[in-house]
Amino acid sequence: MKMATFSRIAEDETPSIIVHASHKIADINDNIYGGFTEHMGRCIYGGIYDPNNPLSDENGFRKDVIKAMKEIRVPVVRYPGGNFVATYHWLDGVGPKEQRPKRPELAWLGIESNKFGTDEFLKWCEIVGTEPYFCLNMGTGTLDEALAWVEYCNSDQDTYYANLRRKNGRDKPYNVKYWALGNEIWGPWQVAQDTAPSYAHKAYQWAKALKLLSPTISLILCGETGFSSWDFTVLKECLKPDMHALGGDNSRSLIDMHSIHLYTADSEHSANATAPRAAERAVQMATALIDLARIENGVPNSVPRQKICFDEWNVWSPARAPGEQGAEEKYTLSDALAVAVFLNGFVRQAKDVGMANIAQSVNVISPLMTTERGVVKQTTWWPLLLFSRYMRGSSVAVNVRCAEYEGRTNPAWLRGVMETPFLDVSACLDEEGWLGLAVVNVHESRDFETELEGLGVDKGEVQVYKVSGAGVDVVNTEGEQNVGIEEAAWNGEGLFTFGRHSLTLLRWKA
Ligand code: AHR
Repeated sequence: MKMATFSRIAEDETPSIIVHASHKIADINDNIYGGFTEHMGRCIYGGIYDPNNPLSDENGFRKDVIKAMKEIRVPVVRYPGGNFVATYHWLDGVGPKEQRPKRPELAWLGIESNKFGTDEFLKWCEIVGTEPYFCLNMGTGTLDEALAWVEYCNSDQDTYYANLRRKNGRDKPYNVKYWALGNEIWGPWQVAQDTAPSYAHKAYQWAKALKLLSPTISLILCGETGFSSWDFTVLKECLKPDMHALGGDNSRSLIDMHSIHLYTADSEHSANATAPRAAERAVQMATALIDLARIENGVPNSVPRQKICFDEWNVWSPARAPGEQGAEEKYTLSDALAVAVFLNGFVRQAKDVGMANIAQSVNVISPLMTTERGVVKQTTWWPLLLFSRYMRGSSVAVNVRCAEYEGRTNPAWLRGVMETPFLDVSACLDEEGWLGLAVVNVHESRDFETELEGLGVDKGEVQVYKVSGAGVDVVNTEGEQNVGIEEAAWNGEGLFTFGRHSLTLLRWKA
């Protein structure tokens, strides 16, 4: 029974949740709590970099944003795009700032000043204590440029770009581990959109050269949603063993992870809060495509199975918050519950998810907003904080019996493919023996008194963290925090009530 299972019961029956502390599903990769910063809207300029603001340090970095990133323990941050990267030339953003060129920016139709670039981002990562993840320009960029960027960041040899880094003030290599082979190359909005076979051929050749230069980097292939034929075409071409590039080592692969993206949104609460179940299905489907590509290509078992890099996920309606206008979504409590359902899915699918990055980390479709005076934590900040703080270690099996939401779903295909329980649940066991149980009650108007079973829960010392609010439409603003975390304790006796439209995280010593 090594899994998360759901059995549907009638709405008037008593639900139950059984946590199996000793049934480990898989380690949860800390990188599922990753972030993403793109040169888009106010994410970089006015977000993490704001040199004229008194809240910034001597580098021009907003100190309140750094504090928030540390609070959320963001383990890895993707940069510099997103769509932006398709016309980005990294050399424009290094060296003396006054000599850096201003360029037209074609993804979001702005002007890129290049005052913030590679060295600034990597310094920011070091201050935050997070790992950088770079996305390569496979739009207008060349393989030469990509190789030069890797050399600039990672080489300790006496070569041109490594020396350029030294000249720019950084002696030791940054050792950037994660590199993505382009972003959403399949999208019609993309500068230099490509077809799957053409991209796949190019990505394979780039991967070969990049691994010859820097064998220990981790390369991420550009997938689509995980449930598209693009995904299989590129996987089939690129998950081929290449013994030449890998120096005859048949325990390594050119491609280490497969990237997929999904944004969900709906104007009705139940469809909105259950929509991220599609992300979980996407992980399952993309993983099956990885298996299929490996089987058809005869990839030996000695090559670790490639994991999913869910490097853009969130609630976003581009119609509501257009990208060209900075995509500053105002998130409701319903959206916060959707974020918790996304995160539950990543914990449940821990075996197959190597990284996930909420898009984005500051101002642009983000849980964290800056003003001239400080930061505002949107409703979606609070589930992210609770998960990142407490849902680490191993994902463990959990069985849930409860009623199911039976209405319209978004996407429509979700109905019949995935269940949409009113109680969406994941569980973990951390290294210190704490069990964590995250329960999202997506029901708008019903509390559920629930039987709870799990090693140690009856010892009487259960910590309770709850994210909820007066209604599913409430938002947080600069002056008003309608959604935050309520802390309490529970003695473990009798039934536990999961309140309507809430996320509850319970923790106890197993
Ligand atoms: O995160 C906003 C945008 O959404 C990214 O630039 C792009 O990759 C996606 O379409």
